[in-house]
Amino acid sequence: MYTLGIETSCDETSCAILKDYRVLANITLSSLREHKKYGGVIPEIATRAHLKNIDKIVSTAEKKSGVSLKKINLITATYRPGLIGALVVGLNFAKALSLALRKPFLGVDHLHAHLFAPFLNNKNTVTFPFLGVVISGGHTDLYLVEDFSKPRLIGRTKDDACGEVYDKIAVHYGLGYPGGPVIDRLYQHACREDFNFKCGKSGFDLSFSGIKTALIYKKRDLEKENAFNHKAKIGLISSFQHTVAQAITKTIIEAADKYKISKVVIGGGVAANTYLRKMLKKKEDEGLSFLISPKEYSGDNAAAVAGLGFYLYNTLGVRSRLNLEAGGS
Ligand code: KG4
Ligand code: ZN
Repeated sequence: MYTLGIETSCDETSCAILKDYRVLANITLSSLREHKKYGGVIPEIATRAHLKNIDKIVSTAEKKSGVSLKKINLITATYRPGLIGALVVGLNFAKALSLALRKPFLGVDHLHAHLFAPFLNNKNTVTFPFLGVVISGGHTDLYLVEDFSKPRLIGRTKDDACGEVYDKIAVHYGLGYPGGPVIDRLYQHACREDFNFKCGKSGFDLSFSGIKTALIYKKRDLEKENAFNHKAKIGLISSFQHTVAQAITKTIIEAADKYKISKVVIGGGVAANTYLRKMLKKKEDEGLSFLISPKEYSGDNAAAVAGLGFYLYNTLGVRSRLNLEAGGS
């Protein structure tokens, strides 16, 4: 069965075509460069970029996969959460396609889709239960997943999301935007000086705004003493990265312990972080097993949306409330 997926929740316009769980094409165009000078995603710019590029992205996916749209059996698109204008572009494009091709349509939650990334291309078999961890630019969510139709949220960020703090710190420290990839590239091997940073935590909820403020103040204080040099910057940012990775790892271990679950599935943009991936892998010795998104499917992408859409439709018989036949949304 062929599934077409569309994802436009933020700044990536993405279209994928899958044969069952095999990714035949996953074409993604980011409007990131247009947001750079603002140090964050501007919804209006993202929406306009989706509108401009979506036809081209879908036809490129069609060509790359070698599967004509007429052969598609199921159409899926992210319907939440995300920037509303951006979502509307992808969602309505997908609905129009569904109507024109007379094929079923299914709306997919893109956070749940992040958790499907490790299962693409049949790399792993879907078995339950597992602890689902989504770490992205907008979310730091922990789910108890007993089946993919209703992951249960057991923890979330209390303020800034993890990726958001990477981005804000990088802008403040003059490293550019987006911060995650640049900090990952520059500081994964940096030696860590202990600045005693902390991330707030209550239950399985995490808070990252405190560490963000601490980094901003520390830089300001060192600048006043003329002591904010290259070495200090390395120490501060690598300490930040270490503290964040440790807080996420600790929360996962505590939740796994409480719910007696040994399998952990991790997705979202920050899951690509090399330092975090290494720290998590070390915990496998303690009896946990980690399925971490392949780096190419960690960030927002339509392949994971189509993969989860196909799973819900085919394995669980889910039919979307947003189905056109049921009157749209
Ligand atoms: O999942 P995603 O593509 O979009 C959202 O749903 O938000 O995540 C984007 C976030 C950004 O904050 C970006 O800085 C972060 O993921 N990110 C990373 C890395 N690659 C992307 N953070 C840390 N290390 C990385 N390698
Ligand atoms: Zn995302």
